[in-house]
Amino acid sequence: MTEAQIPRPPHALIDAVEGASVVDGAGAALGKAIRGANPPGPVRDALSGTWIGHALHPPLTDVVIGAFLSASVLDVVAPGSPEASERLLLVGLLASLPTAVSGATDWADTEIADVRVRRVGLAHAAANVSGLALAIGSIAARRRGSMAAGRALAMAANGALGLGGLLGGHMSFTLGVGPNQTAFDAGPGDWTDAAGAADVPEGEPTGAIAGDTPVLLLRHDDRIHAIHDRCSHRGCLLSDGEVEGHVVTCPCHGSRFDVRDGSIVRGPATAGQPVLEAREDDGRIMVRLAGAD
Ligand code: FES
Repeated sequence: MTEAQIPRPPHALIDAVEGASVVDGAGAALGKAIRGANPPGPVRDALSGTWIGHALHPPLTDVVIGAFLSASVLDVVAPGSPEASERLLLVGLLASLPTAVSGATDWADTEIADVRVRRVGLAHAAANVSGLALAIGSIAARRRGSMAAGRALAMAANGALGLGGLLGGHMSFTLGVGPNQTAFDAGPGDWTDAAGAADVPEGEPTGAIAGDTPVLLLRHDDRIHAIHDRCSHRGCLLSDGEVEGHVVTCPCHGSRFDVRDGSIVRGPATAGQPVLEAREDDGRIMVRLAGAD
């Protein structure tokens, strides 16, 4: 007897959105425009969440969803306080601006490499914009004295944001937009062969594999430095990037890391790179995760 599959009602919708190639042209143009308008630097770092150590967009969505949901709860439990509900809707609308900008930044960094993210992200944005329009409609109805319509529109706004949240969660947790790309593979705990010493020239970033881990090796000032080669931001190989002194720049979105300790010199990455100890041993370069003892 075969076991029944767990029903997943939203799956058909998500499958349909992931397959919506009709939006690809417009989506690619939008992604390019967003990336062009927001080059690497302090503003990009602020929107990406470099300063808090993970993506900024998800916690901001809590403010918008929390405010709208609280407005609808108040509509039910305290119908005599319509001003409080309206203020909560205004708080949600105000918070939606940085929320949308940070989300668009995250999306634009990823859609270029994954059409599913491009398509799901556009649907996510459409659902959320619908939610904001419904919230504005709710406020307008309340101000006209149509409280029943105002409450219904606020409920509908929450429904639209719920759909947006479903699609956003799919992007983050299923399609992998946002997590530290080295989280599950920091590096080998034991000394592991990575490359021949002669294959790592001075000052040139060199990609190698140590066990299962891609490693960036850099010979600089008579030392060999080693960090995880997969950029923590979206997974591009740092060994394809440029090096200046101790700093390597990711070729995809311009994050910069100090190879001495893996720290972030510039975002949009939000997590530093795992650092590996490196030593030369009989013409080979051996590495292991720093602090593995
Ligand atoms: S993959 Fe985006 S900065 Fe490296």
